[in-house]
Amino acid sequence: DWKMQDVLEEEVKVIKGMVGPDEHVICALSGGVDSTVAATLVHKAIGDRLHCVFVDNGLLRYKERERVMSTFESELHLPVTCVDASEQFLNKLKGVKDPEMKRKIIGHEFICIFDQFATELEKILGNKPTFLVQGTLYPDVIESCPPPGSGMTHSHTIKSHHNVGGLPKDMKLKLIEPLKFLFKDEVRKLGCILNVPESFLKRHPFPGPGLAVRVLGDVTEGNALEILRQVDEIFIQAIKEAGLYDSIWQAFAVFLPVQSVGVQGDQRTHSHVVALRAITSEDGMTADWYYFDHKFLIDVVRKICNNVRGVNRVCQDITSKPPATVEWE
Ligand code: XMP
Repeated sequence: DWKMQDVLEEEVKVIKGMVGPDEHVICALSGGVDSTVAATLVHKAIGDRLHCVFVDNGLLRYKERERVMSTFESELHLPVTCVDASEQFLNKLKGVKDPEMKRKIIGHEFICIFDQFATELEKILGNKPTFLVQGTLYPDVIESCPPPGSGMTHSHTIKSHHNVGGLPKDMKLKLIEPLKFLFKDEVRKLGCILNVPESFLKRHPFPGPGLAVRVLGDVTEGNALEILRQVDEIFIQAIKEAGLYDSIWQAFAVFLPVQSVGVQGDQRTHSHVVALRAITSEDGMTADWYYFDHKFLIDVVRKICNNVRGVNRVCQDITSKPPATVEWE
């Protein structure tokens, strides 16, 4: 792909020009396509002056941390430090119900951790990293901060994706956002040129605030996160087994803060309701809900109710974007 080859060369040049010969850069890897491609690109430009960190914020999917860390090590050969900050994040999110508030808190905690990471590195390198790499894409930029001349004002902001809008103004690190003008399919092509493994490039997008925007309301209440992880894992595995993963843009479960009455094993239950959502999309800006055949749905719902304690009802979200957004929060 010639166009992406040009983009690659241009970006490498820009990064080399931006980062002085003694300067160091940190990059937060989320395990997703964007940050992985961004890191690989920056690594190509500045080599071992790039230092990657993977933060477990307690809002990750089932076994995500273990899976991602082992892939970074065995397939990407990028040195990555893993920081377990789950308690720190969850403490800050206690009692918080407003989606934008959650995003702001999470964005802020991430930045605190990056700053700490930079301070730790300074002790080793004798030189504090000055840049932070973000895998921000063009749609994030448009939806968070409408560009001048687009006819949209800030009041049109749909969600402050933490990649863009949620960063505190007082952050000391300067940003490197090499994917800022690209759409997801272009990032995948770029990753391909950079030899990022296919398994990575094909991963569904996952939002920075993680499961916090998929547990409606207070994420720390009861065992919502644990239930959501189990439901999500069953759903995604079923999609993979049915060979549907690559035809779907994004699929996930949502934990609803309601309980409904059910009957399981002759017992009346008053348990949680979860929703399943799968969509097709070109760039996340608009989306259509994905049509599963009945047999697939019947099996998934049975598996969820039989295996996840505390769930007695499963709904499917069949709303497109617009009028809904992809995430429920
Ligand atoms: P929405 O819900 O805005 O989602 O229709 C569009 C795409 O963006 C992802 N998304 C986020 N990504 N931080 C992110 O990094 C966020 O706060 C955020 N909110 C939504 C969503 O998963 C979908 O791919």
